[in-house]
Amino acid sequence: MPQTPSLRGTTDRRVAALVTLLSENATIVISGARIAREIGVSRSTVWRWVEQLRKLGVHVKGQRSTGYFLEKVSDIVTPELLRKRLKGNLFGKRFFHFFKIDSTNRVAMELGYAGEPEGTLVLAEEQTAGRGRAGRSWHSERGTGLYFTLLLRPRLAPVQAPLLTMLSGLSAHAAIQGLTGLTPELKWPNDLLLNGKKVGGILTEMHAEPSVVRFVIVGVGINVNQEKFPPELASIATSLRKESGKMNYRLELLVRLLTQFESDYNRFLREGPSFVVDRFERVSNFVKGRRVRVESGAESYVGTTAGLSPEGLLLILRENGPVLTVIAGDVTEVR
Ligand code: BTN
Repeated sequence: MPQTPSLRGTTDRRVAALVTLLSENATIVISGARIAREIGVSRSTVWRWVEQLRKLGVHVKGQRSTGYFLEKVSDIVTPELLRKRLKGNLFGKRFFHFFKIDSTNRVAMELGYAGEPEGTLVLAEEQTAGRGRAGRSWHSERGTGLYFTLLLRPRLAPVQAPLLTMLSGLSAHAAIQGLTGLTPELKWPNDLLLNGKKVGGILTEMHAEPSVVRFVIVGVGINVNQEKFPPELASIATSLRKESGKMNYRLELLVRLLTQFESDYNRFLREGPSFVVDRFERVSNFVKGRRVRVESGAESYVGTTAGLSPEGLLLILRENGPVLTVIAGDVTEVR
């Protein structure tokens, strides 16, 4: 298996190994000497790293003289834990993990330009400048949500790239349903809602020539274990925890999502857009018969959703008017 290359700010492989060791022996005290031996560093380095992990919010208890243990099972998505679960999966091979970064999309974009291969995954426990659609920001509290970006190099025309947003929405939908039993609403093109509040979103960006995609990055944010949101988001955002009443294991959600995405992505490349469009129409109640307001640039109008075009664009039957195709813009339900 190729080694994940180093990149400024990524979690040191040995720090990740320390977290994995503690996670796999959660609540059991492990001596600093054993940790040092297993990871191949000095005891004082172990102590220094434990201090760093504490600052990052990892609940490591104990001290130099007694040894260390995790106070509660940590839900950190370390490269080792993910690799073990994603053997053979396109997305388990190149993994850049950050405890804290501005935006995984920003990093993935740079990696794309630097020639990193298809399947590269960038994940952060916390984002300080998470990007949302339409220039908005994405609230990325430490250790509670899933914040990651996939790098893809599909042979597609640029107009087909938005289908990847829809495809990842479908994978996230299936993963959430499988793990929690909750059925989110899939809103075209990139929102996942529970009880009318946003639980997940996808931001796809690409680098393309006029007729061919060079690479696409698909950034996924899912609110998993947040207990509350800042006041400005409280009425519009929710988390799986708030809706299910339980903590959910982020690693498990990610593994399900990536496994599903890999198989759907391959089918899309083999079968073409109809695979995505047909499935989206089956899964999303939003794309037919909903009264919506469309805001696109300076234009704003009300109509009823009328399915998807063969390219995956949303069709709107405008009040007293023609059927229009929405290429971009905000579509919100009018009740
Ligand atoms: C939306 O506005 O609905 C899209 C939100 C996408 C957020 C994710 S979190 C991981 C990735 N990195 C970012 O900076 N944004 C995306």
